[in-house]
Amino acid sequence: MCGIVGYIGKRHALPIILDGLKRLEYRGYDSSGVAILTDAGLVLKRKKGKIKDLVGLVGQETINGTTGLGHTRWATHGKPSDENAHPHRAGDVVVVHNGIIENYTELRAVLKGRGHHFKSETDTEIIAHLIEDHIKSGESFELAVLASINQLKGSFALGIMHTKSPDRLIAVREASPLVIGFGNTENIFASDMPAILPYTNNMLFMNDGTVAVITADSVKLLDFTGSPLPVNPKHFDINPATAEKGGYKHFMQKEIFEQPQAITDTMRDRLLFDKKEIDLNEAGLEGKLLHAMKRINFVACGTSYHAGLTGKYIIEEMTGIPVDVDVASEFRYKTPLLGNETLTIAISQSGETADTLAAIRLAKKHGSRILSICNVIDSTIARESDHVLYTHAGPEISVASTKAFTSQLIAIYLIAIHIGRSIGRISKQQASLYIDTLVTIPSLLDNLLKQEDKIIALAKEYAKCSDFLYLGRGISYPVALEGALKLKEISYIHAEGYPAGEIKHGPIALVNRDMPVVFIAVKGRVFEKIKNNIEEVKARDGRIISFTNTGNNDIQNLSDSFFLLPEIDELFTPILSIVPLQLLAYHIAVMNGTDVDQPKNLAKSVTVE
Ligand code: M6R
Repeated sequence: MCGIVGYIGKRHALPIILDGLKRLEYRGYDSSGVAILTDAGLVLKRKKGKIKDLVGLVGQETINGTTGLGHTRWATHGKPSDENAHPHRAGDVVVVHNGIIENYTELRAVLKGRGHHFKSETDTEIIAHLIEDHIKSGESFELAVLASINQLKGSFALGIMHTKSPDRLIAVREASPLVIGFGNTENIFASDMPAILPYTNNMLFMNDGTVAVITADSVKLLDFTGSPLPVNPKHFDINPATAEKGGYKHFMQKEIFEQPQAITDTMRDRLLFDKKEIDLNEAGLEGKLLHAMKRINFVACGTSYHAGLTGKYIIEEMTGIPVDVDVASEFRYKTPLLGNETLTIAISQSGETADTLAAIRLAKKHGSRILSICNVIDSTIARESDHVLYTHAGPEISVASTKAFTSQLIAIYLIAIHIGRSIGRISKQQASLYIDTLVTIPSLLDNLLKQEDKIIALAKEYAKCSDFLYLGRGISYPVALEGALKLKEISYIHAEGYPAGEIKHGPIALVNRDMPVVFIAVKGRVFEKIKNNIEEVKARDGRIISFTNTGNNDIQNLSDSFFLLPEIDELFTPILSIVPLQLLAYHIAVMNGTDVDQPKNLAKSVTVE
């Protein structure tokens, strides 16, 4: 939520900051702003709307300066407006912020009493005033920042500029992500890598409770008491082009089509096809440790939560270990029933989701080991976990998560087979069958994606419907939830996911010709049951769209429309059945003219509670 960029070096800062903001726009996009230090003084521009509106505003002027800050906002305190957009200024101090200041009301009252005047409704503005207040009392820029951040409660990634200290910027991280890129006579910091990658691959992910004093030639790292910390940037071998659209109309479409590659990358060097083994040594999940695990507990949000729900079916089947799945925002306020015999698995594409982070901290406190499945390397959740399995799916820019989901599922299959083998629950022969199935999935996905035209035809038929019901049973139930989530978040069409066996207990009352009912009806242990559910909807004149792999005509005859999925072991069907549902949501949204990659009210990475 919110994206920050700071640049200090020898080049013009404005184009670098605007480019960085465009790359971070997925984090928030209700308003944006820049502050550039020029020879003629500070130029501060803010605009409600998308980055293109800010570009329209600053494009009319010449703003030359080699130091600057930028921000793209997802509103928490104060509605989206020019006044509430960042950067915020108090005298010579300029601040951009990602996070929430929980004690801002108290601090604002104190500062008002000391003669400060506020121009916005934001929590952020008090930070600029607080620092200004300390500077006015005679403290240096650095000491004023240190004193101020120690007065703040909440989460904050900050970029701070002091016009009287033009040779430096200060970055602060507490519970909101911040990465520093180390260039040649220039340095850049941002909320996420894509803003930095065009300039350097040498980066440092700041830890919570750290401050960076950044000049064009140096980076000094401190803790909140001002004590120096070592500065050890790492080289990240990522091509910036992977964060661009590459000929696709939207990032979402590109990312859907990247799935065969993304899941291959998740399997690479872990699925040893010749030996028919899974190698997860990198995550340190040793047999002795796994033998001691009596429960597994997934914590995650949104799409990652749906991966966890699917994971319950996979892991229970392959390992016999009972699995719980919790929405992280619920789990974090529960009294957790876990201990050192529980493996908590956090799933998070970004590795920065505030609720998931809080959930693993709580689980850790109660003695659980933490394994995280993350996409973003060195993200906070990854760093705070005992074990990490990266999905290596490449940057996911579209707010709607697609390739993250399928690569998370692959990570879960690998973990499940590995645990199943380590604890002797599955035989070498069974593992080998699972492995054979896994390696076929990328090409099956490729074939599915070649049928996009069929999905476009479906989308045309149903794009104007205002309500959808998605139904699945067994392992297809989480797929129904995820299919419905995709549709609602990018098309704003009401869509509900439900276990098909439950419709008699309520939702069947909704069935009519205006509400398409999407069935995920795959071969397996509940196939006959879901066929009965389709019959029940049909008997009530429901409008049925089926996604099935049965190949016989039963389901097709009952359906108004259908899409044929490839046949595969039931346990692996979610990874195939979700893809046409992603495409359906995508094309319905495109036909309805919504902003597919940046749907209203959402942000890619939910770093606030
Ligand atoms: O980065 P995370 O996987 O932790 O994000 C979790 C959710 O915020 C995310 O999946 C969200 O639900 C997406 N918009 C779904 O498409």
